[in-house]
Amino acid sequence: MIQTVTTDNGSSNKFDRIVSDLIETGLSICDDFLSPLLVASISREAHELYNEGAFRHARVGRGASMQLRPEIRNDRVLWLESEKPTAVQLPYLLDLETLRREINRNLYLGLFEFEGHFALYPPGASYDIHYDRFIGSMQRVVTCILYLNQEWQEEDGGALKIYEGNDASDLPLPMQILPLGGRLVTFISERFPHEVLPSRRDRLSLTGWFRIRS
Ligand code: OGA
Ligand code: MN
Repeated sequence: MIQTVTTDNGSSNKFDRIVSDLIETGLSICDDFLSPLLVASISREAHELYNEGAFRHARVGRGASMQLRPEIRNDRVLWLESEKPTAVQLPYLLDLETLRREINRNLYLGLFEFEGHFALYPPGASYDIHYDRFIGSMQRVVTCILYLNQEWQEEDGGALKIYEGNDASDLPLPMQILPLGGRLVTFISERFPHEVLPSRRDRLSLTGWFRIRS
Protein backbone atom coordinates (compact mmCIF):
# COMPACT_ATOMS: atom_id res chain seq x y z
CA MET A 1 0.00 0.00 0.00
CA ILE A 2 1.21 3.49 -0.79
CA GLN A 3 0.97 5.88 2.11
CA THR A 4 1.64 9.55 2.14
CA VAL A 5 1.83 11.99 5.01
CA THR A 6 0.65 15.00 3.09
CA THR A 7 -1.31 17.04 5.58
CA ASP A 8 -3.63 19.95 5.15
CA ASN A 9 -2.86 21.80 8.33
CA GLY A 10 -4.39 25.03 7.14
CA SER A 11 -1.19 26.92 6.41
CA SER A 12 -1.54 29.09 3.43
CA ASN A 13 1.48 28.21 1.36
CA LYS A 14 3.58 25.28 0.32
CA PHE A 15 6.73 26.59 2.01
CA ASP A 16 4.99 26.95 5.41
CA ARG A 17 3.59 23.46 5.06
CA ILE A 18 6.93 21.87 4.25
CA VAL A 19 8.63 23.70 7.13
CA SER A 20 5.97 22.62 9.63
CA ASP A 21 6.15 19.00 8.37
CA LEU A 22 9.95 19.08 8.79
CA ILE A 23 9.57 20.38 12.34
CA GLU A 24 6.93 17.80 13.25
CA THR A 25 8.26 14.64 11.58
CA GLY A 26 11.45 15.43 9.66
CA LEU A 27 9.76 14.52 6.36
CA SER A 28 7.39 16.31 4.01
CA ILE A 29 5.55 15.18 0.89
CA CYS A 30 4.18 18.10 -1.07
CA ASP A 31 2.08 17.30 -4.13
CA ASP A 32 1.80 19.87 -6.92
CA PHE A 33 4.83 21.76 -5.64
CA LEU A 34 5.33 22.72 -9.28
CA SER A 35 2.63 23.21 -11.90
CA PRO A 36 2.10 20.46 -14.51
CA LEU A 37 3.29 22.89 -17.20
CA LEU A 38 6.63 23.53 -15.49
CA VAL A 39 7.06 19.84 -14.71
CA ALA A 40 6.50 19.03 -18.40
CA SER A 41 8.99 21.69 -19.54
CA ILE A 42 11.74 20.61 -17.13
CA SER A 43 11.10 16.97 -17.98
CA ARG A 44 11.25 17.61 -21.74
CA GLU A 45 14.54 19.46 -21.43
CA ALA A 46 16.06 16.73 -19.24
CA HIS A 47 14.97 13.97 -21.62
CA GLU A 48 16.53 15.88 -24.53
CA LEU A 49 19.81 16.10 -22.65
CA TYR A 50 19.58 12.41 -21.81
CA ASN A 51 19.03 11.53 -25.47
CA GLU A 52 22.06 13.65 -26.38
CA GLY A 53 24.16 11.51 -24.03
CA ALA A 54 24.72 14.18 -21.36
CA PHE A 55 23.91 11.85 -18.43
CA ARG A 56 26.56 9.65 -16.76
CA HIS A 57 26.34 6.43 -14.76
CA ALA A 58 25.83 7.44 -11.14
CA ARG A 59 28.63 6.72 -8.69
CA VAL A 60 28.61 6.07 -4.96
CA GLY A 61 30.88 7.59 -2.31
CA ARG A 62 32.77 10.80 -2.89
CA GLY A 63 36.19 12.20 -3.67
CA ALA A 64 38.86 9.55 -4.07
CA SER A 65 36.54 6.76 -2.92
CA MET A 66 33.90 7.51 -5.57
CA GLN A 67 33.19 4.45 -7.68
CA LEU A 68 30.79 2.80 -10.08
CA ARG A 69 28.78 0.21 -8.16
CA PRO A 70 25.91 -0.82 -10.44
CA GLU A 71 24.80 -3.43 -7.89
CA ILE A 72 24.10 -0.53 -5.46
CA ARG A 73 22.72 2.07 -7.87
CA ASN A 74 22.34 2.07 -11.62
CA ASP A 75 20.62 5.31 -12.41
CA ARG A 76 22.17 7.94 -14.73
CA VAL A 77 22.75 11.47 -13.51
CA LEU A 78 23.43 14.95 -14.79
CA TRP A 79 24.59 17.55 -12.26
CA LEU A 80 22.91 20.95 -12.44
CA GLU A 81 24.93 24.06 -12.92
CA SER A 82 23.08 26.13 -10.32
CA GLU A 83 24.86 29.32 -11.39
CA LYS A 84 23.73 28.81 -14.99
CA PRO A 85 20.15 27.51 -14.75
CA THR A 86 18.20 27.17 -17.96
CA ALA A 87 15.03 29.23 -18.35
CA VAL A 88 12.81 26.29 -17.44
CA GLN A 89 14.90 25.33 -14.38
CA LEU A 90 14.96 28.85 -12.96
CA PRO A 91 11.45 28.98 -11.39
CA TYR A 92 12.15 25.75 -9.50
CA LEU A 93 15.55 26.93 -8.30
CA LEU A 94 13.99 30.20 -7.11
CA ASP A 95 11.37 28.22 -5.18
CA LEU A 96 14.15 26.17 -3.61
CA GLU A 97 15.88 29.37 -2.58
CA THR A 98 12.68 30.50 -0.83
CA LEU A 99 12.42 27.10 0.83
CA ARG A 100 16.06 27.24 1.97
CA ARG A 101 15.51 30.65 3.60
CA GLU A 102 12.26 29.52 5.28
CA ILE A 103 13.93 26.40 6.66
CA ASN A 104 16.83 28.47 8.01
CA ARG A 105 14.47 30.98 9.58
CA ASN A 106 12.45 28.29 11.37
CA LEU A 107 14.87 25.42 12.00
CA TYR A 108 18.14 27.37 12.36
CA LEU A 109 19.98 24.88 10.16
CA GLY A 110 22.34 27.38 8.52
CA LEU A 111 21.74 25.90 5.07
CA PHE A 112 24.09 27.57 2.67
CA GLU A 113 23.60 26.24 -0.83
CA PHE A 114 21.83 23.70 -3.03
CA GLU A 115 23.55 21.04 -5.10
CA GLY A 116 21.52 18.75 -7.29
CA HIS A 117 21.30 16.45 -10.25
CA PHE A 118 18.78 14.96 -12.59
CA ALA A 119 18.55 11.22 -12.11
CA LEU A 120 17.07 8.90 -14.70
CA TYR A 121 16.36 5.28 -13.80
CA PRO A 122 15.89 3.17 -16.95
CA PRO A 123 13.61 0.12 -16.64
CA GLY A 124 15.11 -2.28 -14.07
CA ALA A 125 17.23 0.37 -12.36
CA SER A 126 17.17 0.89 -8.60
CA TYR A 127 19.19 2.33 -5.71
CA ASP A 128 19.85 0.21 -2.61
CA ILE A 129 19.12 1.38 0.90
CA HIS A 130 21.41 4.23 1.98
CA TYR A 131 21.68 7.49 3.88
CA ASP A 132 22.33 10.72 1.97
CA ARG A 133 24.93 12.00 4.40
CA PHE A 134 28.35 10.70 3.41
CA ILE A 135 30.46 9.15 6.11
CA GLY A 136 33.01 11.75 7.11
CA SER A 137 31.01 14.58 5.60
CA MET A 138 28.25 16.40 7.40
CA GLN A 139 27.46 18.75 4.56
CA ARG A 140 24.20 17.37 3.21
CA VAL A 141 21.55 18.36 5.71
CA VAL A 142 18.21 18.41 3.87
CA THR A 143 17.28 16.22 0.88
CA CYS A 144 14.82 17.57 -1.74
CA ILE A 145 13.52 15.28 -4.47
CA LEU A 146 11.28 16.63 -7.22
CA TYR A 147 9.63 14.02 -9.43
CA LEU A 148 9.21 14.65 -13.13
CA ASN A 149 7.09 11.73 -14.36
CA GLN A 150 3.73 11.87 -16.05
CA GLU A 151 0.94 9.51 -15.04
CA TRP A 152 2.93 7.21 -12.80
CA GLN A 153 1.04 4.10 -11.64
CA GLU A 154 1.75 1.82 -8.69
CA GLU A 155 2.51 -1.04 -11.12
CA ASP A 156 5.30 1.07 -12.69
CA GLY A 157 7.37 0.36 -9.54
CA GLY A 158 10.13 2.84 -8.74
CA ALA A 159 8.71 3.89 -5.36
CA LEU A 160 10.93 5.69 -2.89
CA LYS A 161 10.88 3.52 0.25
CA ILE A 162 11.66 5.34 3.49
CA TYR A 163 12.70 3.40 6.58
CA GLU A 164 12.89 4.17 10.26
CA GLY A 165 16.36 5.40 11.24
CA ASN A 166 17.98 5.55 14.65
CA ASP A 167 15.55 8.17 15.93
CA ALA A 168 12.05 6.94 16.60
CA SER A 169 9.57 8.60 14.28
CA ASP A 170 5.84 9.29 14.46
CA LEU A 171 5.58 8.46 10.78
CA PRO A 172 4.10 5.15 9.60
CA LEU A 173 7.45 3.70 8.49
CA PRO A 174 8.50 2.06 6.31
CA MET A 175 6.47 3.94 3.71
CA GLN A 176 6.52 3.92 -0.07
CA ILE A 177 6.16 7.10 -2.08
CA LEU A 178 5.38 7.08 -5.79
CA PRO A 179 7.42 9.41 -8.04
CA LEU A 180 4.43 11.47 -9.22
CA GLY A 181 5.17 14.49 -11.37
CA GLY A 182 5.22 17.74 -9.40
CA ARG A 183 5.60 15.98 -6.04
CA LEU A 184 8.42 17.27 -3.83
CA VAL A 185 9.75 15.05 -1.05
CA THR A 186 11.87 16.85 1.54
CA PHE A 187 13.54 15.25 4.56
CA ILE A 188 16.30 15.68 7.11
CA SER A 189 19.05 13.73 5.34
CA GLU A 190 20.63 12.04 8.36
CA ARG A 191 17.35 10.76 9.79
CA PHE A 192 15.98 8.42 7.14
CA PRO A 193 17.57 5.45 5.39
CA HIS A 194 15.86 5.03 2.02
CA GLU A 195 15.98 3.17 -1.28
CA VAL A 196 14.53 3.36 -4.78
CA LEU A 197 12.69 0.18 -5.69
CA PRO A 198 13.21 -1.22 -9.21
CA SER A 199 11.44 0.84 -11.81
CA ARG A 200 9.58 -0.57 -14.82
CA ARG A 201 9.62 2.67 -16.84
CA ASP A 202 12.04 5.53 -17.27
CA ARG A 203 11.88 7.35 -13.93
CA LEU A 204 13.09 10.94 -13.82
CA SER A 205 13.74 13.14 -10.80
CA LEU A 206 15.65 16.23 -9.87
CA THR A 207 17.33 15.32 -6.60
CA GLY A 208 19.40 17.59 -4.47
CA TRP A 209 20.58 18.67 -1.08
CA PHE A 210 20.78 21.81 0.94
CA ARG A 211 24.27 21.92 2.37
CA ILE A 212 26.01 23.68 5.18
CA ARG A 213 29.47 25.15 4.73
CA SER A 214 32.22 22.56 5.05
C1 OGA B 1 19.27 9.71 -4.12
C2 OGA B 1 17.95 9.13 -3.81
C3 OGA B 1 15.59 8.93 -4.25
C4 OGA B 1 14.56 9.07 -5.34
O1 OGA B 1 19.50 10.14 -5.28
O2 OGA B 1 20.12 9.79 -3.20
O3 OGA B 1 17.84 8.52 -2.78
O4 OGA B 1 13.38 8.84 -5.04
N1 OGA B 1 16.89 9.32 -4.64
O5 OGA B 1 14.92 9.39 -6.47
MN1 MN C 1 19.31 9.12 -1.36
